[in-house]
Amino acid sequence: MKRALCPGTFDPVTSGHLDIIGRAASLFDEVVVGVALSPDKGGGPLFTIDERVGFITDAVSYLPNVTAQPFDTLLVDFAHKMDARVIIKGLRAVTDFEREFQMAQLNYRLDENIETMFIMSIPEFAYLSSSAVKEIARHGGSVRGLVPDAVCEALATRLKQSR
Ligand code: PNS
Repeated sequence: MKRALCPGTFDPVTSGHLDIIGRAASLFDEVVVGVALSPDKGGGPLFTIDERVGFITDAVSYLPNVTAQPFDTLLVDFAHKMDARVIIKGLRAVTDFEREFQMAQLNYRLDENIETMFIMSIPEFAYLSSSAVKEIARHGGSVRGLVPDAVCEALATRLKQSR
């Protein structure tokens, strides 16, 4: 049985992430979406770990071989815990490459039994990021279609509270 791990901060999950997760699910028997606590990223996530896991769990409910799990350890350790030998990351543009290349090299250095593989983003989502979604929503723009509908509503509520 081949199990892959799709890790990220997912604050919040976007349609681009879901495209990569769905394509990974068609290539592997099982996919675990690993949601990193990432307390320090960008001044702290907007959504709690439970909210981020919940958004993904709801959005992938139509995929029987995908689950979402939180983690707060080294990624390679979490991969072992999940019995996954492959880490799948999405690549949008050359701007992603340097950071992803560094993480893949470091993860290989930490554990050479874990392989990192990349799935290229489709052009429609090549410009999409969680931080861009938050910025658009913060300024009152529509993010409909860029994130699941439940995330649209949650963004509106959360950003209204923080204003
Ligand atoms: O959504 P992101 O920012 O691309 O996700 C980055 C993530 C969570 C995959 C990365 O920060 C990570 O692997 N964190 C776990 C801690 C770890 O293993 N760090 C060393 C890898 S370089």
